[in-house]
Amino acid sequence: MATVLPAADNAPLRNYQLLTSLVVPRPIAWVSTLSPDGVPNLAPHSFFTVASTNPPVIAFTSISEKDTVRNVRATGRFTVSMVTHGNWQQANATSCNCPPEVDEFAETGTAAEPGDTHDVPRPADSPAHLECTLREVIEVGNCFMVLGDVQAFVVDENVLDETGRPSAIAMAPMSKLGGNDWAGLGEVFLEPRPVHQA
Ligand SMILES: Cc1cc2nc3c(=O)[nH]c(=O)nc-3n(C[C@H](O)[C@H](O)[C@H](O)COP(=O)(O)O)c2cc1C
Repeated sequence: MATVLPAADNAPLRNYQLLTSLVVPRPIAWVSTLSPDGVPNLAPHSFFTVASTNPPVIAFTSISEKDTVRNVRATGRFTVSMVTHGNWQQANATSCNCPPEVDEFAETGTAAEPGDTHDVPRPADSPAHLECTLREVIEVGNCFMVLGDVQAFVVDENVLDETGRPSAIAMAPMSKLGGNDWAGLGEVFLEPRPVHQA
């Protein structure tokens, strides 16, 4: 028998717990920005997905308007880097609630490297980055969904397969589950899509 929990009867925290435990696994956008004064900012966001493929647009959501959103609104640019088996503890460290004047790369000991198409620094220990410009911030309830146009895909050639496609196994992306749970990749297998025969 299923338990029915009408969302309207739940406290906001309960709905948050249900959403973050049921919408799993979530990929993690490690979002870097610059403040208007040029202070680098870095924070993980697991409310993250593709919004459009042509043009390439990605979306991440901030619960309340935090430094990341304020910086993106002010500067119009940001970079999303991939969180992997090799850097997830560093990414977790950057989720600290540092004040806006604190450089979160320096504060957490996260090595930075310059961007390619804009001046936003990015975590050096990540195999893939999406350099974005702000398309739109959409306010949804208590959240701020940031849509970004991808200006460049920056991918370490060591994680490209022989066809030039990023290999999930080589990148070893991490994902977020409910609570403080994280997960790596499970079994990876190949299955062609069905084609309707008229
Ligand atoms: C793995 C992980 C995923 C997270 N995902 C989100 C998210 O999707 N949205 C959000 O608002 N906060 C998320 N957080 C919390 C933010 O990283 C945290 O509030 C951070 O301080 C925000 O930084 P900012 O103030 O520099 O924007 C996440 C934290 C972790 C560890």
